Order: sequence, then structure tokens, then C-alpha cells
Amino acid sequence: MKKSILKFPKGFLWGAAVSAHQVEGANLNDWSEWEKKNAKRLAREAKTKWAPWQQERFPEMFDPKNYISGKACDHYNRYEEDFGIAQSLGFNAFRISIEWSRIEPEEGKFDEREVRHYRKVIKAIRVRGMEPFVTLWHWTLPVWLANQGGITCRKFPYFFSRYSSEIVKKFKLVSYWITFNEPTSVIGASYLSGQWPPQKKSIFSGLRAYKILSKAHREAYDEIHKISSSAKVGFSNILRYQEPDNKNSLVDQLATKILNYFTNEKFFRLTKNKNDFISIQFYFHDKVKISWRFFKKRTFIKIPQKDNENITDLGWEIYPKGIYYLLLRQKKYNLPVYILENGLADAEDKKRKRFIKEHLRWVHKAIQEGVDVRGYFHWSLLDNFEWDKGFWPRFGLVEVDYKTLKRKIRPSAQEYAKICKGNELEL
Ligand code: BGC
Repeated sequence: MKKSILKFPKGFLWGAAVSAHQVEGANLNDWSEWEKKNAKRLAREAKTKWAPWQQERFPEMFDPKNYISGKACDHYNRYEEDFGIAQSLGFNAFRISIEWSRIEPEEGKFDEREVRHYRKVIKAIRVRGMEPFVTLWHWTLPVWLANQGGITCRKFPYFFSRYSSEIVKKFKLVSYWITFNEPTSVIGASYLSGQWPPQKKSIFSGLRAYKILSKAHREAYDEIHKISSSAKVGFSNILRYQEPDNKNSLVDQLATKILNYFTNEKFFRLTKNKNDFISIQFYFHDKVKISWRFFKKRTFIKIPQKDNENITDLGWEIYPKGIYYLLLRQKKYNLPVYILENGLADAEDKKRKRFIKEHLRWVHKAIQEGVDVRGYFHWSLLDNFEWDKGFWPRFGLVEVDYKTLKRKIRPSAQEYAKICKGNELEL
């Protein structure tokens, strides 16, 4: 079969993403505290939560230690090595997050040593020829702030703006700022379904979190621009591709519309005119249906679980075309688009190469059809701590041995490197 080569636009950004709590190690924040209290429960619940094939392949899920982030990948001390790997893979961009609890461990007290640490981190990205994309909040909160109600606390926008300006003032090397990572994921999991800290199950708190987080974004956007008028500021948005489970059912159609509004649209609308770019993080294809699950778990999504060939280790369906449909919908905003996360849990690295190529094929098609996509960041550079699921899901282009902390580049990463280095995709 004749090979085809798809060229990406000149200057397209290629990279990967990590987040502080998932890789750094030794963090003290609301999550680290929650992990200690919940590890045993999570290990116990694995029996009912995961399918037999998953339990068999990943017995670590029954060990409470799996659920304690602890030293994670020790990226806090090994960032030079990790960015060296990123550079060797041909990246020209890299996404990290700053750990708020390190910068402001006590209310109003900023730790200069930690500010210096992140300055070194960002410099280490820059000197390797990569453009840093920096997230200010990737879900973990200083304990003092969580104790005041976290993202539902009335003063949250004030606290967040104060922390953001403190950082932005001192990080002149950064042009791209992401205020919040996936606001709707955290609203859903922390305040509606009650899985993540602080494990609330209240529609009222969920709506309050939307309001407060979007206000915080708008205010931080203005603050950041006061300090640096040329900064590009946005938030990273998880976009789910949703369809009615039964295309002929009016109820499913309506449920899809409502869900699409809350997951994909609402936060963007609430922050209208306060975004310099659009970001997409793509993982999910949902078939939407109202069922008993909705009333019990406050979720009316049904994730299609097809044959094992088409799902990740977490059982999430692989549906590359979804990214294309979602990208086309962004055209109307007339803003540059960055794909800030897209990836899969695949411990054996059997599906990652194809996953990346297929998604990029659809991204390329969207670009051909006029969507201004400027970059793609794979999730993730390293295997890391996958929140309430712990360490067993392996999202890394690079495998991490959690005992020795040795890094090993997976074969799919070498394939991705060819794409990044050539700025083209060979099919
Ligand atoms: C989050 C990451 C997470 C990844 C895989 C994204 O929603 O930003 O922190 O590890 O999904 O679940």
C-alpha cells in the first residue's frame, strides 16, 4: 500500500504534559491527606469497581500502597533527566503544573525557595528548546485552603488571583498560562459523584463550584494580563464526545444536550472573552442514557465498552474520530486551539502507537478543514499517579519502575518522536 505523509503547519508545537502532584512526589496537600485516609477503602473497593480481566492484570489495585502518591516519580528531583528525555524525543513544547501547596504552604506566606525551584524547572524546559505551558492549578490545594472550602469557598477567586500574580510576576520566561486544569472534571468528581476529595454529593455545591471557579478564572485572566500584556491565558477543558445511546429516543437526545452543556460548554461560556486560546483534552466517547445509574451515581453517561481490542487498560473506549468532531465545533470561537492532553493507559504499550497516529490523523483533517490547531501534548511523558486509581494505570510514553525510579522509553514514544521531529505523520 502506498504510504501517505501528512504535513503539519510550520511551527506546530509537539510535546507531552505532566502535573505536579502526579509526578513530583513528597507533596503535602488536600490530596496527600485524603490518600492516607482512603487508601484501604480504595484497595477494598477494587474488587467491585474493576472487571475480572483488569483485576487479574493489575493486582496492585488491591494494595493500599497503590493509592498513596508518596514519592511518585520523584520528578521534583529528576526533572532535568525527564526534560532531557523530552528533548531527545524531539519535543518543542512541554506542559507542567505548579504545586500551589509548595508555593503557599501557609495562607499568605509564599515560599521563595519553591519559587526558585520552579524557576529552575521552567528554565530547564526553555534551555532544551521547548516552549513551557504552565498550569497554575491541576486539582491539588494547600490544606489551609481546602479547610476553608476549597473551590467552593467565597474567597477562592481572591486567593487564586493572589497566588497567580505572585507566580506570573516572577516567571517572565512563560508566555502560556493555564489557570485551571479541567474544571468540569473536578466539579463532577469532587462535588457531584463524590469520588474525589472533599467527596461531596451535592448539585448545589457543584453549581457553586462552577460559579466560583469561573469567577476566579476571569479575575486571574485580568490580573495576569496586567502583569504581562503579551501573556496567553486560557483554561484546559476536557471535551467529551457525546451521542444519545438510542438515536431515536427523545429522552436520550435531551440528556445528551444537557450533558453536553454542562461538560463541554458551560465553563467556556462563563469565561467568555477571557480566553486567549481554546484547549482540548480528549479521552472520552459517551453514549448518553438516563438510567437508574443516574439516580444512584448522579451520572447519565454510559461509556461504550466494546471488545478488549478497542479499549484502554482502564476500559475507556478508543475513539479517535471524536477529537475531529470536537475540533470542528471550536471553529466558531475563532481562537487558536491547543490539544493539551490526549492519551491512554496501556501498560504493555500495544495500542499507544496506533492511538497516537489515529488521533493525529483526525487532528490533521480538522486543520485541513480550517480549525486553527497549533499544538498537541500527549498525556503523559511519564507513568504517574492516576488520582483515586493510584499507580496501576500506565499513561507514560516513558515507563517508570516505581521501585528503582528508572525511566525506560517505550517503543511508541520513538514513533511519536518521529512525528515530532519531522512535523509530519506517515501513515
Ligand atoms: C487529567 C490528568 C489525568 C488524565 C487521565 C486528565 O483528565 O488532567 O490529571 O491523569 O486525565 O485520567
